[in-house]
Amino acid sequence: MTGILVIGATSAIAQACVDEWILRDPQSRFFLVARNPQRLKQLADDASVRTSQPSGFFELDVNDLDKHPAMITAALQHLGTLDRILIAPGTLPDQAIMEQDARQAVREFNSNATSLIGLMTLLANVLEAQKSGKMAVISSVAGDRGRASNYLYGAAKAALSTFCSGLNVRLSRSGAHLMTVKPGFVATPMTAGLPLPEKLVASPQRVAQGIVTGLEKDRNVLYVPGFWWLIMWIIRTIPTVIFKRLSL
Ligand SMILES: NC(=O)c1ccc[n+]([C@@H]2O[C@H](COP(=O)([O-])OP(=O)(O)OC[C@H]3O[C@@H](n4cnc5c(N)ncnc54)[C@H](OP(=O)(O)O)[C@@H]3O)[C@@H](O)[C@H]2O)c1
Repeated sequence: MTGILVIGATSAIAQACVDEWILRDPQSRFFLVARNPQRLKQLADDASVRTSQPSGFFELDVNDLDKHPAMITAALQHLGTLDRILIAPGTLPDQAIMEQDARQAVREFNSNATSLIGLMTLLANVLEAQKSGKMAVISSVAGDRGRASNYLYGAAKAALSTFCSGLNVRLSRSGAHLMTVKPGFVATPMTAGLPLPEKLVASPQRVAQGIVTGLEKDRNVLYVPGFWWLIMWIIRTIPTVIFKRLSL
């Protein structure tokens, strides 16, 4: 039995990961965490029916740092050990608003970066004590270089990725593992209605397959789909004088 903690369980990518885990191992036992209680219960009931294991759940807004320890205690009580962890919460703020409302900008940065860093700080200690367990954190290609169209979101993802890069090394010394996931465009409620180049948009299922496989293979940084590694390498190497003239 593999004990799987999913934080941000209502995310389309997280739901596809749960589907993928159940497909690969119907004995998986889940502990699902999200901030919408009705949706959370539905998802937990569904996972219980599809596995031979009861699923647990916990209501959490990741910005409520005071509730993080109670969530982790409840997850450990339900799962025994944290074998797999997925951290998926994220928001894609409107950049125009971020340029006018400093408080809102800081709130969005916290949701996408500092609150998750707080959560991972506690979870890392659990994995270190267990000397096992694999954690995947969904960052983004947006963190690889700030763009005028979404640099608040990109800056938060960059902070998350850099934190993960250091934590990855620390956890490797205890037998645990951390993988930073950098998806490109994915067709989820987060991107609904955005004018994205169709050929570059992946399904949540494709991204989930990459995440579940990547975690089993102890990948450190996962660009998903993989061609985003090349796209971002090119974007990172464009000189700033030229980058300023591009409408990215
Ligand atoms: N879609 C893309 O193109 C794309 C690309 C790169 C990276 N990502 C990242 O992938 C992750 C999953 O996003 P998605 O694409 O699956 O979009 P999604 O379906 O909109 O999921 C976003 C999830 O984040 C949760 N969330 C937001 N703020 C939260 C908070 N304060 N506390 C708890 N949960 C919170 C939302 O919960 P509610 O249901 O309660 O709102 C929702 O479940 C995010 O980290 C996102 O940044 C997405």
